Amino acid sequence: MNKPTNINLAGNSPASRDVAFHMHPYTNPAQLAAAGPHIIAKGDGVFVHDDSGNRFYEGMSGLWCASLGFSEPELVNAAIAQFNKLPFYHSFAGKTVDPAIELAEMLITNAPPAGGGSHMSKVFFAASGSEANDTAMKMVWYYNAALGRPEKRKIISRKKGYHGVTMAAASMTALAYAQDGFGLPLDFVKHTTAPDYYNGAHAGESEEAFASRCAAELEDLILAEGPDTVAALFAEPVMGAGGVIIPPAGYFAKIRAVLEKYDVLLVADEVICGFGRTGNMWGSQTMDVRPDMLTCAKALSSAYLPISAVMMSDKVYAPLAEQAERLGVFGHGYTYSAHPVCAAVALRAQQLMQERDVIGHVRSVAPSFAGHVAAMEQYDFIGNVRSIGLIGAMEFAADKHSHKKFDASQKIAAQAVAIIQKHGVILRALPGDIIGFCPPLIISKAELDDMFGRIHDAMSEVAELAAKLR
Ligand SMILES: Cc1ncc(COP(=O)(O)O)c(C=O)c1O
Repeated sequence: MNKPTNINLAGNSPASRDVAFHMHPYTNPAQLAAAGPHIIAKGDGVFVHDDSGNRFYEGMSGLWCASLGFSEPELVNAAIAQFNKLPFYHSFAGKTVDPAIELAEMLITNAPPAGGGSHMSKVFFAASGSEANDTAMKMVWYYNAALGRPEKRKIISRKKGYHGVTMAAASMTALAYAQDGFGLPLDFVKHTTAPDYYNGAHAGESEEAFASRCAAELEDLILAEGPDTVAALFAEPVMGAGGVIIPPAGYFAKIRAVLEKYDVLLVADEVICGFGRTGNMWGSQTMDVRPDMLTCAKALSSAYLPISAVMMSDKVYAPLAEQAERLGVFGHGYTYSAHPVCAAVALRAQQLMQERDVIGHVRSVAPSFAGHVAAMEQYDFIGNVRSIGLIGAMEFAADKHSHKKFDASQKIAAQAVAIIQKHGVILRALPGDIIGFCPPLIISKAELDDMFGRIHDAMSEVAELAAKLR
């Protein structure tokens, strides 16, 4: 038997074995080799514990996902029960399983209002947010081909948008770190202005005028590309990984008017915003998006198992179904579409959201969260703070008044995250020297107070760093 060539690198510790054998996602390999991995050993409510016994607030719910915390026994029990009953079956060729039937009905029943006064009527299951977005893109193409206009297939997303990492999704993810080195984006994906008022507004421009300009720039792009070639805009209601960018009031109504004018579909990427994060079931409700299609994942199952979904209104579904009938099959699907155990856990997660009125809880603690996030503005190196529901951010500025940034190569936000972690809170640095906050939706007011107290405790060291880097 061939011995792996790197076997000798492996010491006996889990950390050295990890460095030897495991290629991590979104990780700098040299840094990993130098520092070793951070091994997370167990979860407990809004906390995780590492293998040295240190306890951390998971201030990002992992990757904006573990909304019901890290130790919900009801979800574990739902998985075990389904494993014992039927651990796998597929949904190809008309097969299905009970939890998928119930979950689909629940999602459609609770869907947000769709475009043109219509409502979501069908749901398609996949396993990740990236797959859901790739699926939605293929459905958009299939839809336009069905309507006899196969050349209408260009996709628009917004600069700083995050939509995943598969080839199509990474092309829509308009962030350099997801495209550099891969020869992406693919050429049919175009990017328009992000609704980032803090960084993008002209001097003296009101929020309303800025939102109108975003819509005008979208229209300019559609006209430049040719409306007959533009199929859809994919947009997060609140942009997450690109910096927790909350669009100005009225933004989506203006965007929608442009899309309707050129018969371009609107796909809401609810992978972060869905399931209570913004204080409503959907970010589309909070931001009045009214999409034709919607993708969701993450908190669908509180991230306990991988499952995602694409929802579509009848306007989209009817031509898809007719085309599939003409072609003999809808030729798309994943082995794990509507996986019974994933569906059972997602169903239980959604039932728990209702039984425990988790969205009511989010609304009750959101003012406290907003107050804590707003208080970060007291630091002279924090230029902007923002939040909605239980998602927020603080953005560093070398000069608060001119919004001048720190030198990006100094990575002040990433360094601050490391300092804050020493005080028992895991957060995440986002491009543009922004730190995101996205705690589990079950966090209590007392836990929020303690978590932000720890962040303040870390800020004197962050202030020293900021003074050095200015
Ligand atoms: C808005 C959004 N869409 C899509 C994705 C991709 O999801 P996944 O990592 O499950 O493929 C993410 C992941 O963070 C996301 O934030």
